[in-house]
Amino acid sequence: MAGNWKMYKSPSETSAFFERFNPLVSGADHCEIVICPPFVDLAAAVEAVSGTRVEIGGQNLYWESEGAYTGEVAGPMLAAAGCRWVIVGHSERRQYFGESDETVLKRTLAALQAGLTPIVCVGELLEQRESGQTEAVLVRQFEGGIAGLAPEQFARITIAYEPVWAIGTGKTATPEIAADAHRVIRGQAGAKYGADAAAAVRILYGGSVKPDNVKGLMAQEEIDGALVGGASLKPDSFAAIVNYNS
Ligand code: PGA
Repeated sequence: MAGNWKMYKSPSETSAFFERFNPLVSGADHCEIVICPPFVDLAAAVEAVSGTRVEIGGQNLYWESEGAYTGEVAGPMLAAAGCRWVIVGHSERRQYFGESDETVLKRTLAALQAGLTPIVCVGELLEQRESGQTEAVLVRQFEGGIAGLAPEQFARITIAYEPVWAIGTGKTATPEIAADAHRVIRGQAGAKYGADAAAAVRILYGGSVKPDNVKGLMAQEEIDGALVGGASLKPDSFAAIVNYNS
């Protein structure tokens, strides 16, 4: 269960979040719990989860390990700051910051190189769904952004299916729609990396996941977890999502 805080919260708000959140999830050993705060909050977040099962991730990384790239943050820096995870290719990066399948692959490789687990995001736009292109888009994103990985690299990634029309809109994909898309992605994984690798890869669903819809989504065998934006900002609501099975 991963929370993507996007561009919200200061370091002191980060510490306050975990003070309330940590005890709420202390019994949740059925899943891994990850929060991806803005870069400037990483130190506060890593300190706040020390000694708990909660792990921290970045929201993006650059593919070079260091250099004259003003404003960028490298994978080894995230690892050194205490991150275990990093989101790659989020639709907001694709939409506003020129991310392409090609740069998604570069960042994914850089994340693996730094020992981070990348959460690689894919998903179709509303007009693509409405014009029946969902499967083609998912196949293209897989081919361009993921299929360049060697099998041992693929074994170390997590995928997030996030239909862009469901992000921040309150319109969740129905569990069936999400599971159908997950099947397409897993089918791609199977064709490229074999049945065992496809069965093992974790595919998270993201897009307006809330405490009141998470159970239905998680009831789908195809859905292995959630990538949560808005509802991860409040300790009680993200804890309720993490604890969906209790
Ligand atoms: P949302 O965002 O839960 O606010 O829809 C999900 C995401 O962008 O990862």
